[in-house]
Amino acid sequence: MNPTDRFPRTHLGQFPTALHLAAPWQIHAAATVLLKRDDLTGFGLAGNKVRPLEYLMADALKCDSNVVVTGGAAGSNFIGACAHAAAAVGLDCEIEVAGDPMEAWPVLLLMAQATGAVIHFTGQDRSLINEQVERRAAELAAEGRRPYPVPRGGATAVGGLGFATAAIELYEQCNVRGTDPNQVTVVLPVGSGASIAGFLAGSDFLGAMWKVVGVSVSRNVDEMRGVITDLSTQTSELLGRGAPSMTNFTIIDAVGSHDQELDANGAFARDEAFRRVGVLLDPTYGVPAYEIISQITGDSNDTVVWWLTGGLPAAIESLTVMGNRESVVAKNV
Ligand SMILES: Cc1ncc(COP(=O)(O)O)c(C=O)c1O
Repeated sequence: MNPTDRFPRTHLGQFPTALHLAAPWQIHAAATVLLKRDDLTGFGLAGNKVRPLEYLMADALKCDSNVVVTGGAAGSNFIGACAHAAAAVGLDCEIEVAGDPMEAWPVLLLMAQATGAVIHFTGQDRSLINEQVERRAAELAAEGRRPYPVPRGGATAVGGLGFATAAIELYEQCNVRGTDPNQVTVVLPVGSGASIAGFLAGSDFLGAMWKVVGVSVSRNVDEMRGVITDLSTQTSELLGRGAPSMTNFTIIDAVGSHDQELDANGAFARDEAFRRVGVLLDPTYGVPAYEIISQITGDSNDTVVWWLTGGLPAAIESLTVMGNRESVVAKNV
């Protein structure tokens, strides 16, 4: 029995997600590159975020809550996914969005609205979101509602169970393929840290010796390492264990490496990944992870697992910028 099986889970996504060779890319890379397709989890456009949400929504139901409260930046994949998951299990949802209302809403916010979620703009910085979520949950409780507050990205011990399960899933897939898990390097983009923290807790439980590389896009290395250590310890404790080993864990600073609108290098990387591998990468998470993976695969003979986490709405929004490029504008001759 998997250690995560004893926790309630609402099945929203399609698991296991595929693990397959990045076949066309093998021409360019020394390493064997395997794609882990969490961009195709099959629940709206939630990508990797449906994993923590399966456990969080089940926990909310177990706690007899009737309204989920969460928050994030306007372009956050998590808020759209959380609104969708709450609606799917019959819970109300309120979302605290950093900053002020904008003219054109990002697709994920529109999707959240389409689920019936109540959306508030906080007028404040994203770093204050978790406090605002707690404040709103307290207000709702005072009104007699039963709120279930979820911090940014689903970064709680329970949320971490999603990627603890993912570690077990990957381990089994490696064994089926005949790939030695101890010769594998797993690369994951890191935002809130929920995914990688859960993955490290699951890896520790398994005793997996794979290398884990986190590409941090929102916090510097020291700060992020602290967040991940705390979170993974909390998830490990749920699994009946102490703090997980961090020996094989590396975190790389990619903060601010790309804006929503990619610079020339970022656009080159995005287009190269699309040509070589056939995957659409979002500017915030996908492109920085690809840049790191390109470096690793150039000089390693390990098997590299590239965790594709989704971010499709932002990936598509980033592509529209391409239409303005001279090279694709038809010329009359
Ligand atoms: C597309 C995508 N990839 C990666 C991540 C990072 O996941 P985490 O927040 O669990 O670190 C996110 C977070 O929202 C995301 O939306």
